[in-house]
Amino acid sequence: MKKLIAGNWKMNGSLASNEALLKAVQAGLGAAVCEVAVCVPAVYLAQVQGLLAAHALLGSGSQVSLGAQDVSAQEQGAFTGEMSAAMLREFGVRYALVGHSERRQYCGETDAGVAAKAKAALAQGITPIVCVGESLTEREAGLTADVVKRQLAAVVHECGHCITEIVVAYEPVWAIGTGKTATPEQAQEVHALLRAQLHAATTHERRVKILYGGSMNAANAAQLLAQPDIDGGLIGGASLKAQDFLTIIAAAH
Ligand code: 13P
Repeated sequence: MKKLIAGNWKMNGSLASNEALLKAVQAGLGAAVCEVAVCVPAVYLAQVQGLLAAHALLGSGSQVSLGAQDVSAQEQGAFTGEMSAAMLREFGVRYALVGHSERRQYCGETDAGVAAKAKAALAQGITPIVCVGESLTEREAGLTADVVKRQLAAVVHECGHCITEIVVAYEPVWAIGTGKTATPEQAQEVHALLRAQLHAATTHERRVKILYGGSMNAANAAQLLAQPDIDGGLIGGASLKAQDFLTIIAAAH
């Protein structure tokens, strides 16, 4: 299975800086052996779609897939500020993050709500990247397994036989943006747990990519990506620096 390296730009960027970043990434990408995606702020989806399409016309090097950072669970209607999966699809969106810990924390997203978003994305052929992860307090209380299993269980329950179509991202909250990465062993332990949970739902659990996210960078990516159950990375800060992002991509083989 090809690994997936996805950048999560979060609420960063501008028309000018997006273009510069993307061009630098594309220029350095060559024939990447892994899949690459960027999850951009919604207002920039059209811009990035255009830049990716222009590059694809050149026909050289690997292509970067487009991702959104959220998607509505609703199909359409009176939901001010929301964006449906069908709308994202019109902009060539291939992936949508759902349940990122920042949205769980700041926007009150629940396990059931996140599962509904994953289902809505799948219904439009968009691959949801389901984010799970424990806080520092939960880890210290020995609740890591309980928390991530509960978060994933909601999605398994909602998505049923489509579960092999999702991507999971394990992002320990205490490692996000803190420079404190989980050790490869800590990450692998949780990834193996998640894999076992998927196995209970499908015999094709190996088809589901489980990404690690949380201060993954150019220096630590290779070791993390060498773990048997780490199938890629979800990169925040380091995805905003072309060279760092490229180094991580090169480590994913
Ligand atoms: P950092 O790589 O900045 O820690 O962010 C990780 C993340 O939240 C990706 O979704």
